[in-house]
Formats: sequence, structure tokens, C-alpha cells
Amino acid sequence: MCGIIAYKGNRNANEVIIKGLKRLEYRGYDSWGIGIKNHEIKITKKLGKIGAVSLKDLNLENANIGIGHTRWATHGSVTEENAHPHLSKDKKIAVVHNGIIENYQQLKKFLQQIGIEFKSETDTEVIPQYISYLIKQGKTFEQATKETLNKIEGSFAIVAIKQDENTMIGARRGSPLVLGTNENEFFLASDVPAFLEYTKDVVYLDDDEIVVINNNLKIFNLKDNTELKKPKELINWTLEQAQKENYPHYMLKEINEQKFTVKNAIEQPPELIQKVTKMIKESFGVFFVGCGTSYHACVSSSYTFAHITKKHVNAVLASEFRNYENFLTDQTLIIAVSQSGETADLLDAVKTAKRKNCKIVSICNVVGSTLTRLADENIMMNSGPEICVLSTKTYTAQLAVLLLLAYGSADRLDYAKEKIQQASVAIPKIIDNNLEKLKELAKKLKDHKSIFLLGRDLAYPSALEGALKIKEVSYIHAEGFAGGELKHGTIALIEKGTPVIVFITKWTKQLILSNATEVKSRGAYIVGTNAEENELYDFFIKTPELGNANPIVMIIPIQILAYYLAIERGCDPDKPRNLAKSVTVK
Ligand code: AGP
Repeated sequence: MCGIIAYKGNRNANEVIIKGLKRLEYRGYDSWGIGIKNHEIKITKKLGKIGAVSLKDLNLENANIGIGHTRWATHGSVTEENAHPHLSKDKKIAVVHNGIIENYQQLKKFLQQIGIEFKSETDTEVIPQYISYLIKQGKTFEQATKETLNKIEGSFAIVAIKQDENTMIGARRGSPLVLGTNENEFFLASDVPAFLEYTKDVVYLDDDEIVVINNNLKIFNLKDNTELKKPKELINWTLEQAQKENYPHYMLKEINEQKFTVKNAIEQPPELIQKVTKMIKESFGVFFVGCGTSYHACVSSSYTFAHITKKHVNAVLASEFRNYENFLTDQTLIIAVSQSGETADLLDAVKTAKRKNCKIVSICNVVGSTLTRLADENIMMNSGPEICVLSTKTYTAQLAVLLLLAYGSADRLDYAKEKIQQASVAIPKIIDNNLEKLKELAKKLKDHKSIFLLGRDLAYPSALEGALKIKEVSYIHAEGFAGGELKHGTIALIEKGTPVIVFITKWTKQLILSNATEVKSRGAYIVGTNAEENELYDFFIKTPELGNANPIVMIIPIQILAYYLAIERGCDPDKPRNLAKSVTVK
């Protein structure tokens, strides 16, 4: 959940690292640090977001090797001491780390028993301390790092540097690390946008791989130390795509990009869609698995599959997937849905399914991510980099891909493309027609303690997703629920002025309007999202009626409302508190 960037080459490492950290900040932003090496290693650590920090402010001496880290605390509170990089006792080894070391207490105890004092509360500090200990036993920097990492249980992506050596060592197990190369310069980072400005040539490291960069570059298998030849891949993302253009926040930019990204999502190789729909038809048991917003796309699509293909699909939370292990066979198909392809709970679920010889299809947005290398088939969402911590454009892209697969499994692919085309055309109109109204609504609702969202059928998962967006970015408690559940409890929370957002579709109109009547009679303030006005509504948001494509368009106004609620409440839409873009720990 943290962001790592490291550089070795002829440029000023400080500049590369500061720029890289700013591009990785969506991964964690409670503190950051940089370590550069000339004759000795100089460490700078700061609390909070890196924000607009400039090199001038830091006044760092130039250097050609450096490591940087932006943190999302898991072990140890948010302090400068716990920020990375961490140093060995003799200050000769510096390490940045993303992941969780499950056996750090044993390793720490062993090192403390031989007189090594620890400065921080983190699990990470055992790495530089242990490397330094082994070097004192006569091991080389490379040998000591390999041996230390083989002692570690848990997940890691690390980069280490050593005072009197021009060597940079990176390794991963369970957390992402990608290598960027250019003429005589090397980049290591948690994600490509960190160094996209300098190179598009990348090498994706797999689990238990270590790269040693000094005068040359070598990659080894950490377990058996065999040297590996890894393919270079060319990234087709532009730096502009990873920038805000003229929008005040990535969230607003990415919401507006959906008119394109929904269409891009269905530009898939026909033979791939054919292959996957055949796998769906022939499988015995289909599971849609994801976390957070991706899980909501799974729930929504389990409904469209029920409507269109008459095929039962289980939508399962990745963190609860283990409960279904007994139902998995080599006839089972897992469709793993993830923006980042690095979500630890999902990777865990996929590994559980692979142990049962299930077939794995991923729907993912990051080429080369861990999920795409675990899966048998990958459907890339083509949404471009999503920088805002909140998933918006990748949610509607997931819905579009799954709708394409649903209609494809019913041999109605062209109809799917037509429907999804209608949705992508409708998106800019929905935004233009409702923008000013939604800003006004945000002003009205900004001080409420709770907002409720209700829907039935396809609109139920839309209510869940809408609530998540409002919670994530405005910190207002929001609850999405199925209209039919209202009378079974939640209605107890409805009182005078309680905001209730109601999603109405053609198929659920009567039932959901009676739910709206029930809460209205308890004084609720009704926000109706629908194709047509109704006297029940205190506030109306117009969205088109698009049948099974409704979830793609129904969520757009709520994404915008969430954005303006954040603005009204002075919250940072791109970096909400306590969250990170990809959750790489379980
Ligand atoms: C959604 O806005 C959040 N960022 C979060 O719930 C996210 O959907 C979840 O962590 C899953 O991430 P993934 O799609 O990258 O696997």
C-alpha cells in the first residue's frame, strides 16, 4: 500500500525520486522519505503528503543513486521515525519496503539479543539491520540481501542501497515492483507512472525475483539463485494520461473520461471474447470475485448474467472466498475483477482457486500486474492509469466488459455493443444536464451525518457503490441497501430531513416508488434518479433508462455528488484519509 521509487543513473536522483513520489502518492500518503547516496547515505523524512514540495525546499546535494518511499502505515504509528527509508545501525544500508513482514518479531528479537538497537516501531527495519549483520559475517551486499529476504515470511517489495557501493538491489514477493530501463539508467518503482516520464521500457518482476544493478543488471530467482532472462515490455500509456490535464482533481478528470473509457472497455480481440464466453458456457460453477468497488461490479453483473444468460453466477467478496473452497473443481471458472491487479485479498482468492485447478479469467486495468500473470486469460479494461484512489472510470469499464460477456454468452454481442455505445454517449449529457444541480445538492447535504441510497434489482449494487463513493471521499456515513430490506430495519433510521437517494428503473418502478413513499412518510428528503420526474421527489436527477446497461449510467451522478460533497467539506478528493489505491496487504 506504500509507494516505492528508486533511481541509478546520470540524472540527479533527487529530482527523479521527488517527481516519482508525487506520482505514487495515491498509494499512501501519511509520510514520505528519500535516501540518496554519495559518500554516505543522506536520509530526509517528512510527515504528511509530499504535495508541492520542491527540491529547493529540501536543499539536498545532488546524487546519482537514491531511493524514495511514500507510506501507508501498517506497522508503527505515523511518525518521522517510522517513515522510510530505514537504516542499519551503522547507517551503511538503507531500505524502502512495501508489504508486511509477518515474522519480523522473531528476526528483531534475534538481532536485539546480539546488541542491535532498533530506532522505529516498523517491521521494515529488520531488513537493513539483518543485511548489515550478515555483511559483518563476511557476506557481500548481494549475498546478505538475498539471504535476508529468504528469511522473511510475508510480503515485500524492497529496494536497498549501500554506502560504499554503487549497487542498487530490488526484490519482490507479493507486492508490486517494476523495473524501468534506459541507456545507462535504471528505475525501480511500485507502478509505471512513477517513471513514465523517462522511459516506456519496463520489466515486470515476478514473486521471489531479485534484481542487482551495479555496472550491469542481473535478475535472479531468489529461492534458487538461478539467473533469469526477463522480457522487456513497452508501455502504451502516455504521461499526459497520468496527469490531471486542466482538471482540479484526478477524480473529476476520471469521471469525465468515462465517455471514452466505457467504449474502450469493449474494444476487445473478438477471439478473446469468444474464448471467454465459451469458458463461461462450458464451466460448472462461475464465481465473480473482487473487493470494494470491483466487488460491486461483480454483484451488479451477477444480476445481468441472471437476466441475459439465465446462468447462475456467484458474486463473492475476495476476502470471504475461502468459504467456497469446497465448491471449487477443475470445471469451475473464476472471473477475478480488479483495477490494480495487486489487491492482496483477490490474489489470495485466485491462488486458492488455482490450487483447485479452476480456470482464471481476469478483468484488469494494469498490464503486467500480478493478477494478469496468475490468470489463464486477461481482459484488459483499457481505461488508462487511474490515479484517484476512488475507482470511477474503472468501475463503469468493469460493468461494460461484464455486460459484453453476458450478452456474448447469449450470442447477442452486437446488441451489447449497441447498448454500451448508448451508455457512453449518454454520459457527457448526464454530466452536463446535472452538474450545477449536483453542486447545489452537495451544498444541501454536506452537513448531514448519514445519507441512504436504495435500489432494487440492478439498482441495488448501484446503491452499494454510490454509498461507497460518498463514504470514501466525503467521510459522511452512507448506506446502500436493497429497497425490499427497508421495512426489515433500516427504516428505523429515517427521520425528518434524512436524505434518501432512490434509484428507479423501468423494471422496479412501482416497488421502489412505494419504498420512497414509506421513507417520505417518515420525513425523508427524497433524491430521485430516474428518466422521469415524480412528485415524490424533493430533488430530481435525470438519468436515461438503458435496461441492463443502467448501472453504467446510474452511478455517474453519484460519483459527481460524492466529488462535490468532498469539495464542500474541504476533503481531498484524490487522496482520502486512511485509504490507498491498491490494498496490497490482507
Ligand atoms: C474504490 O473506490 C476503492 N479504491 C477500493 O474499494 C477498491 O475498489 C478495492 O480496493 C479494489 O481494488 P482493485 O479494483 O484494484 O482490486
